[in-house]
Amino acid sequence: MKEHIPFLLATLMAVGTVVSGAAIAGTSGGHHAKGTIQRTGFGKTAEGTPVDLYTLTNTHGIVAKIMTYGGVVTELHVPDKDGKMTDVVDGFDNLDQYLKGDPYFGALVGRVANRVAKGKFTLDGADYVLAVNNGPNALHGGLKGFDKVVWKGQGHVGAAGPSLHLSYLSADGEEGYPGNLSVTVVYTLTDNNELKIDYTATTDKATPINLTNHSYFNLAGTGDVTNHILTLYADKYTPTDDTLIPTGEIKPVAGTPLDFTTPTAMGAHLDQLTGDPKGYDHNYVLNSGGKKLALAARVEEPTSGRVMEVYTTQPGIQFYTGNFLDGTLTGKGGTVYNIHTAFCLETQHFPDSVNHKNFPTSILKPGETYHQTTVYKFSTK
Ligand code: GAL
Repeated sequence: MKEHIPFLLATLMAVGTVVSGAAIAGTSGGHHAKGTIQRTGFGKTAEGTPVDLYTLTNTHGIVAKIMTYGGVVTELHVPDKDGKMTDVVDGFDNLDQYLKGDPYFGALVGRVANRVAKGKFTLDGADYVLAVNNGPNALHGGLKGFDKVVWKGQGHVGAAGPSLHLSYLSADGEEGYPGNLSVTVVYTLTDNNELKIDYTATTDKATPINLTNHSYFNLAGTGDVTNHILTLYADKYTPTDDTLIPTGEIKPVAGTPLDFTTPTAMGAHLDQLTGDPKGYDHNYVLNSGGKKLALAARVEEPTSGRVMEVYTTQPGIQFYTGNFLDGTLTGKGGTVYNIHTAFCLETQHFPDSVNHKNFPTSILKPGETYHQTTVYKFSTK
């Protein structure tokens, strides 16, 4: 890390590097800068690559911890209606548990999030074959997707709040995808109590791309999420076959258990769903159509009063209720992750877009810049 640390803060380097709002020239936005970012070591991968953990704190005391392995949001502490802070995301206490494998807790997912049918696609006349890692399909970028690589990290404090800049170069052919893809993801913990994620990428060969964050939220901290009240600003969804590959149809949610166009408890219609294990795992077609930042979802947890709104430039969102959490993983502070104890709202292009001409394109071409933004905004009611 290249930050210049003032003499008075130098002693803190023993435990971590602090970049605070007003103090540091060159790495902060000067006297308008707000919040702090601190870096600590978080262990090493099996190959011996060091992993850092960055702690972002805004001026309201909201704390986000993000590590360079997978760009994983490991902790996110937000207040309830009485100001009591709780960690609202699933994860583990240490790197080793993440390295053993997990269902993408808090991770950056890519090069292509969600599924590609049979792990195959054709682009510019060439056939590409990906690892099949989810039934007959490819899921979430492959065997070693962006969730399992160590990103380069750089802390910064600006007028909007502390931010972590993560970058990664995905080589031509990595996980079967074409083109050298240069990716930057910036997490900013804003002074408006938002965790903002900006994704940028360029390539030297046409490639499909679909980047998302896979945080599992529980706005009460623990327990079942079936009481969480969800509104999705989506009148339509993409039906799938039983391997979760879209059929290509775009259908209305009206009259189905998928209808969250008005505030509805996540558990209200769970028993009407088919599938084993039961639960939501559906891509919604956002009314905004993507491109400009728009409200996609709102979640309210009635006992704590915590509210989370999701804004995105993406055209779709995967609503997933942790259906595959089966109690075999024990996370932070001994919390056992059981079915329906968390939800994900993964902003994205539609699953298997690369094989569906009628879906918004997920192809990035040389000379173009991929740019998507998603904001998770916290408040109380
Ligand atoms: C979701 C996906 C689920 C499941 C989960 C990870 O994004 O829609 O089907 O694969 O990730 O366990």
